[in-house]
Amino acid sequence: MKNSNFIILLSVYALVQVLNVSNAEPYEYMQFVLQYPPGVCYDQSKGHCISPLPTKFHVHGIWPSNFSNTLVRCVHALRNNPFHKAQITPLQTDLGNSWPSVLTQKNNMQFWEHEYREHGACAVESGVPPFTQRSYFEKGHQLWNQYDILAVLRQSGIKPGTATSYTMTQLVTAIQKKIGSNNTPLIMCRRTALGYTLKEVIICLDHQATNVISCALNNIRKTDCRDPSGKVYYVA
Ligand SMILES: *[C@@H]1O[C@H](CO)[C@@H](O)[C@H](O)[C@H]1NC(C)=O
Repeated sequence: MKNSNFIILLSVYALVQVLNVSNAEPYEYMQFVLQYPPGVCYDQSKGHCISPLPTKFHVHGIWPSNFSNTLVRCVHALRNNPFHKAQITPLQTDLGNSWPSVLTQKNNMQFWEHEYREHGACAVESGVPPFTQRSYFEKGHQLWNQYDILAVLRQSGIKPGTATSYTMTQLVTAIQKKIGSNNTPLIMCRRTALGYTLKEVIICLDHQATNVISCALNNIRKTDCRDPSGKVYYVA
């Protein structure tokens, strides 16, 4: 497709999204949040994280969000759509692979319930068409299969290791090879003894978590990896 056609298509698409939004949708887009356990757990006290620690990127959640206000609260949505453990019991094995609780503080089911209460209920209440609790979690599993960030980074020669750091530009460019150069992902860090350490990769998706959009569209949410030279540690 010619580049200009693509831009026109994107604009039409954005307009449709905006119209959807003025149709009183209580969220505007989805953040597909993948956490990187070695980064989440680096330097944490013993017992804070599960052992053995998963070494791939895993689902943290799919978060209905607004560009100007980031998080949408789901209190009302949850009242109408309470959590039903039985709806995801059949998915337990799949979700154990894609969406495990990395912190010992919660077991898997408690973590899924938390993500549902904070985020999933909004997708069930306000998705167009609405998600079901089950389809919300199935979506997370499917997206995890689709976006293997460990492999995506490896394909650009970016490998975990404590001694080396990469630049934000290197990380973003590598991920864009997968999601398209028009789409900026969000990279989130923790401040550790090493410096800014990669903790999460966020891919922004449309309202139904189907198509990738750029996280940089007038978005109030910005990276918190703030090394002046853009340096990010990708620990093993
Ligand atoms: C999110 O955006 C939608 C559409 O613009 C709006 O109806 C809703 O009130 C917003 N929610 C928050 C928490 O800002």
